[in-house]
Amino acid sequence: MNSLELDMLSRPRRNRKSAAVRALVSENLLSASDLVLPLFFHEDEEDVAIESMPGCTRWSLAGLLQEAGEAHSLGIPAVILFPKIEENLKSSDCEECFNPQGLVPRAVRALKEAHPELVVMTDVALDPYNADGHDGLVREGEIVNDETVAVLCQQAVAQARAGADIVAPSDMMDGRVAAIRDALDSEGFQQVSICSYTAKYASAFYGPFRGALDSAPKAGDKKSYQMDPANAREALRELELDELEGADMIMIKPGGPYLDIVKTVRENTALPVAVYQVSGEYLMIQSASAGGWLDRDKVIWESLLGMKRAGADLILTYFAKEVALRLSAGGQG
Ligand code: PBG
Repeated sequence: MNSLELDMLSRPRRNRKSAAVRALVSENLLSASDLVLPLFFHEDEEDVAIESMPGCTRWSLAGLLQEAGEAHSLGIPAVILFPKIEENLKSSDCEECFNPQGLVPRAVRALKEAHPELVVMTDVALDPYNADGHDGLVREGEIVNDETVAVLCQQAVAQARAGADIVAPSDMMDGRVAAIRDALDSEGFQQVSICSYTAKYASAFYGPFRGALDSAPKAGDKKSYQMDPANAREALRELELDELEGADMIMIKPGGPYLDIVKTVRENTALPVAVYQVSGEYLMIQSASAGGWLDRDKVIWESLLGMKRAGADLILTYFAKEVALRLSAGGQG
């Protein structure tokens, strides 16, 4: 034995010696079938580039149908819809959110007609409809819980009636999952699922999204309903409630900076766990790679693989289409 050779039984590098061996032992894979594509849209007939999210578009209804169809043909099973509501339809009671002829119900009906197999998810929260910009009703400067939940129930039922497959309450009001389940069931929508934003943090990473929809709060912040980024145990408390209240899927948001929460939640529930790679995470990758400072494709891949490794079953990402395209060309990485 050469004097420089170490006497080692275990050499982890043997499992990394070739691409083929690495593929054999790899623990996690990305798959198009785990991806959900978030889509922005508006009433206008034009597709408009979103300034705060370079590379993303706010679609017309026609553009939305086309984009969703392309995503579906790349193997992406689901889209989630985010409308930009016209200023004159916003109010402090948010009644536009349950208008059966509103933008979202029309989009859902058109999507389900054009692509019946595509899973359509809808966001349940008042911010796009609220003159105050908050996810809940504002009364004398307070975001009121129970009155908001009653409106969210009407919104969820309107979305279900239009054909939504999964409603996703992102508002963080207490008790909304049970109330929405009850409202859906009593209207005959037992088959409509609830994907609850279980642990949604009060995050500055949502900034570009609010720019895309012009939906930033007019006053104050969202800290009285979204969670404190300092807290981890609190996610388990929200998880327990959402399970008891009948959630079908659990969502964590944002993604990258909260992978510890994803892992903890994964280890404490049998329900599917979804992770949302939010607008700020998207923008950081877009801007850092625009200057040539990061290898964009590799960084996107690694950011999503990290979510799988932490325990994500579903991943919501603005990169869904291009990742699915790469996967369909046979790539892993
Ligand atoms: C609104 C909602 C937000 C996002 C999804 N639903 C913004 C917020 O809570 O302020 C953020 C998504 C993203 O940043 O990509 N209820």
